[in-house]
Amino acid sequence: MPIERRTQKDGVSSMPVAQPGIFAQGTRSHRHLEFDANGGVEPEAVLAALRELRQPSVTAGGANIVVGFRPSLWQELDASARGVGDFAFPVLDGLANTPHDVWIWTHGTGEDVMLDVARAVSALLAPVAHLATDLAGFVYHDGRDLTGFIDGTENPPVEVAHATAVVPAGQPGAGGSYAITQRWVHDLAAFHALAVEDQQRVFGRTKPDSVELDDTAKPANAHIARVVIEEDGDELEIYRRSVPYGRVEELGLYFVAFSADHTRFEKMLRRMFGHSGDGLHDRLTDFTRPVSGSAYFVPSVDALGDVLG
Ligand code: HEM
Repeated sequence: MPIERRTQKDGVSSMPVAQPGIFAQGTRSHRHLEFDANGGVEPEAVLAALRELRQPSVTAGGANIVVGFRPSLWQELDASARGVGDFAFPVLDGLANTPHDVWIWTHGTGEDVMLDVARAVSALLAPVAHLATDLAGFVYHDGRDLTGFIDGTENPPVEVAHATAVVPAGQPGAGGSYAITQRWVHDLAAFHALAVEDQQRVFGRTKPDSVELDDTAKPANAHIARVVIEEDGDELEIYRRSVPYGRVEELGLYFVAFSADHTRFEKMLRRMFGHSGDGLHDRLTDFTRPVSGSAYFVPSVDALGDVLG
């Protein structure tokens, strides 16, 4: 049975608090886990297994833990989030679409702690769900993607990231956040075979210091020309927390983004993958391809607390 959540405390409306790990900075070791419920397991049983996450034995040790759910699953669990379940990963040519039930993103100061958390969480969920993804990511040098370009220059700064990423009061799922994850695999040999000037035209920014190319030098199919979308005079913003991952044979980016409005993701992806009607696609997609794609709802701390009991 869905659990009704109180939105009024002592007669006073309060804005639910977003999961702080979405915004925590300065963490160089990341780990992404995705789980699927075992056949016949009720959503409530998955939640019950996650209850232990709140215990200090699992959360201690300098790890941020962010918990997301397949949006339609969360909607079943939280009556106040009705409507959240309309969000699913876009089905578009060129995109991988790999839905999962639960996403756990842990990030902190070292690979050792992330491994401890990953093992502890997996052990908690083992009776009810199985691990579909276990990916270790890291901050590369001064926040660069493995192409060598700085990733995050135009990310909303911490002071405004909350407004970009968190569903405002009064809307279903208030205090929560819509998120997508995508594992991208780079063809670095092809990318690095380009002259640096040409690499810069792929992104629309300079390589050493991420300065935006001026409009005469920036091609219409540059990455930032495709993902910067203006509507009614305002730029559509998302809050990105991607990290590189890999080993010598396979290197790429684990793209992670949050938004208060889930329609922004599809608008950007359509323009990247040639589905926006202008005949263009993002040239970056000639050098990297997504092999996974999942949509999540990351509920507020209050909603999680209420639903977990
Ligand atoms: C392998 C995949 C990707 C790589 C390597 C990549 C890398 C980058 C880089 C280097 C920048 C410029 C610096 C910055 O502002 O952060 C950038 C900007 C940006 N990217 Fe991506 N990106 C990838 C996928 C995506 C996807 C899938 C989306 C959207 C769904 C996206 C949305 C954005 C946005 C909104 C900006 C900021 C544009 C601006 O305001 O100037 N990126 N990305």
